[in-house]
Amino acid sequence: MIAAGRVTVNGKVVREFGTRVDPERDHVKVNGRHLKAVQPYAYLILNKPRNVISTLDDPGGRPTVKHLLPGVSVRVFPVGRLDFDSEGLMLLTNHGDLAQALLHPRYHVPKTYLIKVKGVLTDEELKSLGRGVELEDGVTSPATVKKVKKAAQNSWLEITIHEGRKHQVKRMLEAVGHPVLKLIRVRFGPLTLGDLAPGEYRYLMDREANALRDLVRAREARSARREARGYSADRDAHSHSPLASNLRARRRAS
Ligand code: URA
Repeated sequence: MIAAGRVTVNGKVVREFGTRVDPERDHVKVNGRHLKAVQPYAYLILNKPRNVISTLDDPGGRPTVKHLLPGVSVRVFPVGRLDFDSEGLMLLTNHGDLAQALLHPRYHVPKTYLIKVKGVLTDEELKSLGRGVELEDGVTSPATVKKVKKAAQNSWLEITIHEGRKHQVKRMLEAVGHPVLKLIRVRFGPLTLGDLAPGEYRYLMDREANALRDLVRAREARSARREARGYSADRDAHSHSPLASNLRARRRAS
């Protein structure tokens, strides 16, 4: 291509092999078409404090998670939401396919919340949360619920759900008569909040980003096996997942 004079840098044809360019500043064209630099994937977790909206913009002018990412020049997007008054782990990335797969309801990515609720739950109430409770949009799927500590008036619980319905945890607790007073997401799939302070963020370590990708691959493989066995419920999840089609395309190409 270079020898044929089809490559230009800043409007000038280059004929020298090994010509160096700065992807931030130089305009490289091949056959007259602009060549975009490949943006490396960035993954980070943020400990969202209360009273911050979990989107990048808010028409109402409330503080957003974007305000908590100083120095992050890559455009990353939140993977899922936390309520304005909820706290804890939020994953942000520019890896759109991975984000979509992690949010796909059929992949059942577990999310764990530490919650303070009003009153003290009975064993029967705990069991019913675990089995599933009736909400206006249907019965919730099985959850894992543990008592963490007990105060005289309130209880602290840890609850792990595999769905991502709007205000789900609050609605589940409301359904058993114990409104949520405080909600902190402490785990999302393989990621844990650890001792990241409220309002702070950090980039994922390679092994954490790999664990996310592995989780999605494992879910896709499970979906594919189920599909092969004729579970129509997972057919949509598998064929509609952009990460799945991307991986399939890459496998075909390699
Ligand atoms: N469930 C809720 O009710 N709120 C959140 O922010 C997250 C899960």
